[in-house]
Amino acid sequence: MGAKSLIDLLKLLPHPEGGYFRETYRSNEKTVNAEGANRSQSTAIYFLLENENKSHFHRIKSDELWFFHQGEPIEILYFENSELHTIQLGNDFLTGQVAQAVIPANVWFASRLAGGTGYGLVSCTVSPGFDFLDFEMATKQNLVAEFPDFSEIIEEMTLD
Ligand code: GUN
Repeated sequence: MGAKSLIDLLKLLPHPEGGYFRETYRSNEKTVNAEGANRSQSTAIYFLLENENKSHFHRIKSDELWFFHQGEPIEILYFENSELHTIQLGNDFLTGQVAQAVIPANVWFASRLAGGTGYGLVSCTVSPGFDFLDFEMATKQNLVAEFPDFSEIIEEMTLD
């Protein structure tokens, strides 16, 4: 199945960070996050990237779990302790891909298709649940200022 059919079938919509998504679960139970704000206990989304789509550098205030479903492997990039880390999310375990990944809360992260073509379909869950109030897109200027050694990839993977 092609990306377009899958986007239609799963009723995915463009995400502000790039790619396509639909929220598939939001708990009725509520919790309070580290800053004292009311949030759902957990949420889940489908997320799809196709071809040159990028999820541009952004951060959220919960750890985010990623689960690979189908298509081509997805590369997740994130900054931690001034280092750029990469994870290959896919099903080819023998080559080091993983089908589950955890992106720690509050780190800048981005993703793209590892091979740049086709599509990859994943799920992402967060707890406390997602709220756009906890979501921040990075600017090129600020991210390059924070991680000057990585300006090239930052240029490529930021929106503004
Ligand atoms: N709901 C809307 N956007 C997102 C996102 O980027 N991650 C998660 N986990 N849920 C979302």
